[in-house]
Amino acid sequence: MDQDQLKALFDQQAEHYDTQWTKMAPINNGLYFLLESVFAELPTDARILCVGAGTGRELIHLANTFPGWHFTAVEPSGPMLDVCRQSAEAASIAARCSFHEGYLHSLPEVAPFDAATSFLVSQFILDKSARSGFFNEIATRLKPSGILANADLASDTSSAEYPLLLEVWQRVMSGANLSAEDLSKIMEAYARDVAILPPTETAAIMQSGGFETPVQFFQSGLIHAWFARRHSERAA
Ligand SMILES: C[S@@+](CC[C@H](N)C(=O)[O-])C[C@H]1O[C@@H](n2cnc3c(N)ncnc32)[C@H](O)[C@@H]1O
Repeated sequence: MDQDQLKALFDQQAEHYDTQWTKMAPINNGLYFLLESVFAELPTDARILCVGAGTGRELIHLANTFPGWHFTAVEPSGPMLDVCRQSAEAASIAARCSFHEGYLHSLPEVAPFDAATSFLVSQFILDKSARSGFFNEIATRLKPSGILANADLASDTSSAEYPLLLEVWQRVMSGANLSAEDLSKIMEAYARDVAILPPTETAAIMQSGGFETPVQFFQSGLIHAWFARRHSERAA
């Protein structure tokens, strides 16, 4: 799937995205709960870059938890970003947000960020060097000691465990308001359009993109999350 097809897919999903995934909330809430502690030492006026912000789920959670923080949402899908903006308005946090429709490379030059999130985004970049380049663009936008929290689907798909875990994961998703047809489309996409790599490989790609050793701080089913500081050699 190329970038335009991926954007079109999220354009179509935007309206129902949040309701579609409501039943996965225990997983997301666990991830966001851990994320709070990963970012806990950031300054009270931190500026956070949310890459692939989608409908704004992680952004809104962080904004509610840390009332002095400012957010820049980068999102190529206009309809996903519209939902993000509306949700930010409904949560009375929109005044602390900037919304950029597009990719990170087209975000105007702004002061470097204290931290960034990239949740369930890099997995759509199949080419490993392009995926490393994606992380590198994030590193470039961070302060020298800035932190990235990244989440992706990850697993060793060649292992004996994978089909068994995938079966459980399918059951988790089928409880999440998905029809049998939707589920089978998602399984096809996993095999074709999502780069589900062993966790150590995903971490290595983050590192090659300009981050120090990534620390895996979360796993639930196929969803894994890491935090990593921008590599010190990049520091000014
Ligand atoms: C699975 S959704 C996750 C949204 C949100 N981060 C969340 O966890 O709810 C992935 C989002 O990343 C966006 N996206 C895909 N490729 C991207 C890229 N190269 N840069 C920035 N955003 C991208 C999509 O448009 C989509 O909204």
